[in-house]
Amino acid sequence: MRKKIVAGNWKMNLTPDQGASLVKDILKEKLELKYNQLVVVCPPFTGIDSISKLLEDNEGTKVQLGSQNISEKNSGAYTGEVSAEMLTSLNVRYAIVGHSERRQLFNESNELLHKKVDAVLASKMIPIFCCGEPLEVREANEQNDYVKKQLEESLFHLNADIVSSSLIIAYEPIWAIGTGKTASADQAEEMHAFIRSLLEEKWGSDAAENVSILYGGSVKPDNAPELFGKENVDGGLIGGAALSADSFLGIIQAMN
Ligand code: 13P
Repeated sequence: MRKKIVAGNWKMNLTPDQGASLVKDILKEKLELKYNQLVVVCPPFTGIDSISKLLEDNEGTKVQLGSQNISEKNSGAYTGEVSAEMLTSLNVRYAIVGHSERRQLFNESNELLHKKVDAVLASKMIPIFCCGEPLEVREANEQNDYVKKQLEESLFHLNADIVSSSLIIAYEPIWAIGTGKTASADQAEEMHAFIRSLLEEKWGSDAAENVSILYGGSVKPDNAPELFGKENVDGGLIGGAALSADSFLGIIQAMN
């Protein structure tokens, strides 16, 4: 059974102290998450150590730690990179792979992301695999083919067991990220249903039913309930609104 998930992607924001203070504010709320609900925070690498300790001291909160990126390599002379083993040693259980900012600004290709997905899974972490089309593709009504290619080239080598137990997908239309322009709940549902149909075709209905598909792009406390109310929208990957405890908590509430 798939989970409802709210994950915060802090991007390149918040110093370690600021991040720790935000997580303390979230934990203060004593979230009463249901058995099928999960909250993940993805700080910059510099914040992971201190937040890992905070979460360890608050075991049972169901708030988990994720990274925003990961190296496809295990170790060695790769200046500036961070490996899966380094992350798991700090209790990082999730890794965002293929965020559109990594794809567009750092030239990450579907082929590279295929390797990153493998590195994440080999370390028993769970990839939050991002997909989504730019505005010109949406305007040409070619978003389905675009997203299909992203999934085919980076995920279709996986087997059904892994997909069923260890994959989260985030659909983030690029035109909705940080723009204040959200996809309508119907547009999100349409794409999520399409993604789930691709998963079903490739791996069967059991696996497809187990994959949480999150929506990302200008999610706020006021639009989250309608988005999360859609059948195939299993939560959100949140940017700007994850940087304040009030708005992040408001979005977490929308899982109910
Ligand atoms: P915003 O919520 O700021 O639009 O960012 C979405 C996002 O990119 C999350 O990964």
